[in-house]
Amino acid sequence: MTTTSTAADPVIRVSGLHKHYGETRAVDGVSFEVPAGTVFGLLGPNGAGKTTTVEVLEGLRTPDAGEVRVLGIDTVHHPDDLKARIGVSLQTAALYPRLTVVEVLDLFRSFYPRSRPSDELVELMDLGEKRATRTQDLSGGQRQRLSVALALVNDPELVFLDEPTTGMDPAARRALWAVVLGLKAEGRTVLLTTHYMEEAEVLCDRLAIMDHGHILEEGTVKELISRRFQERAVRFDRIEALGDEQLTAMPGVSSVKHENGEVLVYTRDVAATIGAVLAAAEGLGVEPENLGVRRATLEDVFLDLTGRALRD
Ligand SMILES: Nc1ncnc2c1ncn2[C@@H]1O[C@H](COP(=O)(O)OP(=O)(O)OP(=O)(O)O)[C@@H](O)[C@H]1O
Ligand SMILES: [Mg+2]
Repeated sequence: MTTTSTAADPVIRVSGLHKHYGETRAVDGVSFEVPAGTVFGLLGPNGAGKTTTVEVLEGLRTPDAGEVRVLGIDTVHHPDDLKARIGVSLQTAALYPRLTVVEVLDLFRSFYPRSRPSDELVELMDLGEKRATRTQDLSGGQRQRLSVALALVNDPELVFLDEPTTGMDPAARRALWAVVLGLKAEGRTVLLTTHYMEEAEVLCDRLAIMDHGHILEEGTVKELISRRFQERAVRFDRIEALGDEQLTAMPGVSSVKHENGEVLVYTRDVAATIGAVLAAAEGLGVEPENLGVRRATLEDVFLDLTGRALRD
């Protein structure tokens, strides 16, 4: 039977999820929760199992094992109860090639008892110029924008966006970020997948880093970074006369690295290290160029977790 959720329940609760395709363990024991009104991100490289996980949550795939509750509904046994309440933007959406943008929107609207006006969605996703264009003639980024618009047709309380910004130009990407943050401001919940660290940092309240069907780490961006990196790097353009040995001896410093003509001095005490660098430079009669502080990023976390960069 379907049970209704209360406000305190997480909107998504997955535990021990497995989905195997023959020998491939696409999802291999995944558990996480998403509280209402938050944006949750699944971040990981190609083949990590993100889409498979999302499609199980959407009720589109049957898992081999695990419990899945979405909006209080057991999506494995009652996927139909979910449909009217969620919005889905698939990674590879088939979009009725011969229908125009507005025709597809109107068609999708007709599936639901309650829907947002097509014009509103056209405007939201900046498709005004293309409203009468057949979907087969849209560019990749425009198609992606239409796919997101279709996910919002039924005014859903929970929205799944599988790599929503892939193929979008920087302006469209930023516009989509604003849409996602707008959904959150309205109290809706969003689950998105992405390859883009920056996107995850900007949008996600919490995120899970996935690889090979596993969640390697889960938390807020801050937590993920500070769990691994207590240090920050003081950086400046290389000063010939200032050797690594001298830098390593400065207060708080643990290591020194060189990257594209830049010196990175890893330290637990940023202020003391900057003071020592300035003093040493003054002693040499030079001024450090492009002096700044770099904190670890999600990219560094992923590299540290897997030994490889997330994107090629
Ligand atoms: N229908 C299927 N049949 C067989 N194997 C599949 C199927 N769907 C996915 N897989 C395999 O499961 C693994 C996870 O795929 P999935 O699409 O979930 O990854 P992903 O994290 O979404 O990757 P991407 O970033 O490329 O979208 C991959 O190894 C993939 O080849
Ligand atoms: Mg995918």
